[in-house]
Amino acid sequence: MSLQRTIAPSILAANFADLAADIKSVENAGADWVHLDVMDGRFVPNLSFGAPVIASLRKSSSSYFDAHLMVENPDNLIEDMKQAGCDGITVHLEACTHLDRTVSVINEHDCCAGVAINPHTPVDNLKHIIDKIGLILIMTVNPGFGGQRFIPSMVEKIQQARELIADRPIHLQVDGGITQETAPLAIAAGANNLVAGSAIFGADPTDYALRIAAIRG
Ligand code: DX5
Ligand code: ZN
Repeated sequence: MSLQRTIAPSILAANFADLAADIKSVENAGADWVHLDVMDGRFVPNLSFGAPVIASLRKSSSSYFDAHLMVENPDNLIEDMKQAGCDGITVHLEACTHLDRTVSVINEHDCCAGVAINPHTPVDNLKHIIDKIGLILIMTVNPGFGGQRFIPSMVEKIQQARELIADRPIHLQVDGGITQETAPLAIAAGANNLVAGSAIFGADPTDYALRIAAIRG
């Protein structure tokens, strides 16, 4: 049994000069969550935005805010992300020396704790943390940039994560290169939560609803 299918547009591909308006547009077009890619220029070779921007966006949106922290030492940011209004906080396994502690701190902040794994990281590494988390993020590209191609061998990892989750109420999220062509592969493998940046924001705003519906399948 998997949780309800959820589409989470990534604002990394939105107009940074008017993020609030772009969020409003995707909400009106049927988006379920807002995916917030926080990058520090160290864990990934790119910088994006942090808690002050998220706190500003929170004022005009009541959507579920899903923060994806692509940062070193994410522990330092958990309190700020909570204060900024994030509902879910996902950290990278590769960035956490003491992942169990990090996940516990997220839970203590009453946020949904997510763990993301890069394409080279085996799903098995999640085995001993599975009962403490609410979301697994299978990266379907190497993190850092929008607009990359879905890595086909990630389909097998999505299947493995679905097996690991079994009947637990855990979201299985995919992120990177998700389009109306690749979403069906991820869904068939067991993903229920689909992040898409360029496949949504790369369209004309009048087509956002069509794009979201196509990815939802
Ligand atoms: C990549 C980010 C993604 C990115 C996805 O590091 O985590 O959320 O915005 O962008 P697309 O959908 O364009 O691959
Ligand atoms: Zn992301």
